[in-house]
Amino acid sequence: MSYGVQGAPVLEVSHVEKVYGSRNNVTRALADVSFTVNKGEFVGIMGASGSGKSTLLNCVSTIDTVTSGSVVINGADVTRLKSDKLTRFRREQLGFIFQDSNLLDTLTARENIALPLTIARTPAKETLARVEQVAQRLNIAGVLDKYPYQMSGGQQQRVAAARALVTDPAVILADEPTGALDSKNARLLLESLEAMNRQYQATVLMVTHDSFAASYTNRVLFIRDGRIFTELRRGDSDRRAFFDRIMEVVAMMGGEGSDAL
Ligand SMILES: Nc1ncnc2c1ncn2[C@@H]1O[C@H](COP(=O)(O)OP(=O)(O)OP(=O)(O)O)[C@@H](O)[C@H]1O
Ligand SMILES: [Mg+2]
Repeated sequence: MSYGVQGAPVLEVSHVEKVYGSRNNVTRALADVSFTVNKGEFVGIMGASGSGKSTLLNCVSTIDTVTSGSVVINGADVTRLKSDKLTRFRREQLGFIFQDSNLLDTLTARENIALPLTIARTPAKETLARVEQVAQRLNIAGVLDKYPYQMSGGQQQRVAAARALVTDPAVILADEPTGALDSKNARLLLESLEAMNRQYQATVLMVTHDSFAASYTNRVLFIRDGRIFTELRRGDSDRRAFFDRIMEVVAMMGGEGSDAL
């Protein structure tokens, strides 16, 4: 099986710079970051704490604005969209998975997953069918009528993944999605993302500090001090072999201690 380049570019990040603060209190969180993600790729972003991973994801997801450079998603430069169009773009083209599942407590799993479709006024029948389908795939069909407090952390996170996937977004953005999970549930979530990526050509950009999580991707971008330091492609390696290669880069980048990654 090949895990190489899959299709046309869906995400093109060009010369992105992000500077926080002003005058004598300036942090350059990103400096001249450029990369392209093709349809159907599963890309990991790794780097030490403070290296700019979340800033990069937030600039891509339009949660934050770039200082200079461009972010083109499905042909649209999101750095130039005005707020009303931006809200719509985010809703229709992007899916989000955060470290904390961010589910609404007063809604069942089914209602939480359906929410993006409900907001987009998708017909009820279609909504129900799509929720059911994605829930089967992520192995959460049995919890659809439960409220978040009645589910395990792992189930909640898979429900959050289902909510991100249900609209079939151009790009799914995940910031440490396994960060709050134990190893068994982390594995289940990663297997779900991998399955969605393979079966539906879902394009995923995932920030992680964990080499094990990164080993599920097709390609890892390593960020250091706001720049892309290097990238690793999985190619034809199996997951274990890719994990070993990722660990080598992590160790090489170590410096202040590779466990900080
Ligand atoms: N809103 C902000 N205002 C000022 N500086 C910020 C802001 N957000 C991030 N930074 C700075 O930008 C740099 C990159 O931060 P970022 O959150 O992207 O790191 P990260 O790689 O996600 O780290 P972690 O692994 O700890 O989550 C850091 O030096 C941080 O202090
Ligand atoms: Mg972060």
